Amino acid sequence: MSPKFISRILLLHLLLITSFYETGARELIETENKLLDISQKEQKHHEHNHNHMDPSVMVFFTLQDLKVGKRMQIYFPKRNPSTSPKFWPRDKADSLPFSLNKLQTLLEIFSFSQDSPQAKAMVDTLKECESKPIQGEVKFCATSLESMLDFTQRSLGSSNDLGVYATSHLTKSSVTFQNYTTLENIVRISAPKMVACHTMPYPYAVFYCHSQESENRLYRVSLVGDNGDMVEAMVVCHMDTSHWGHGHVSFQVLGVAPGSSNVCHFFPADNFIWVPKLQDRSASAM
Ligand SMILES: *[C@@H]1O[C@H](CO)[C@@H](O)[C@H](O)[C@H]1NC(C)=O
Repeated sequence: MSPKFISRILLLHLLLITSFYETGARELIETENKLLDISQKEQKHHEHNHNHMDPSVMVFFTLQDLKVGKRMQIYFPKRNPSTSPKFWPRDKADSLPFSLNKLQTLLEIFSFSQDSPQAKAMVDTLKECESKPIQGEVKFCATSLESMLDFTQRSLGSSNDLGVYATSHLTKSSVTFQNYTTLENIVRISAPKMVACHTMPYPYAVFYCHSQESENRLYRVSLVGDNGDMVEAMVVCHMDTSHWGHGHVSFQVLGVAPGSSNVCHFFPADNFIWVPKLQDRSASAM
């Protein structure tokens, strides 16, 4: 996995440590952080404990740690629903260009100045969306719910019913980074194939959707935060990371040798995981 790929899939939520995309990723993160209202206090607290790592990278763990009673610190971005981008109907989204070479037009339409953080975020999103997929990856940027569904059906086989999963916060709080303990019901969800769709910073809802050929596992985990927050969290475990770039942020977070370990990560609440719904191979405890 190349650094370029990392910045594409891990998106705004993850800080890239070694990549020529670092500046771009940082800007995405900064833009997102403003949306997320990460408190200064949390940042400082975290930096103090974790060698200046951005708390947003604290989403990785290994399959070995996916067990009941495990306590770990996790970052869950929480977007303010009143300011987060909204889905547009396909007609409306399709009536606008979605292309880096139409940037000027787009900036005028949305009244963003050239140097604004919003303009930078749009550039980064368009670049990510226009970049070529890596080997074994199929990707698509969806600018509407309908186009997300079309891509997903094409990728998973349109004859299948689709299941969709997302992390949900069962309690309301503004805490984005704390320790969580895994509760009893860890559910593995059958996912011979999956499409993961990640939010991208843009004036309306844009999702970077992709699927990969290598083996992935999907889990749903119930978590309780130290403050009592309840989260039904989705987890994807990448069983083969041997093709990932050595600079992949997860290796640094986990302190494992590049490619030597599986890597799991939690999904933020506004991302989707689509899987084919197979009648006799549904989730083991659903
Ligand atoms: C999580 O718990 C550990 C050990 O109790 C503590 O050192 C760490 O600061 C906690 N992390 C957060 C984000 O509160």
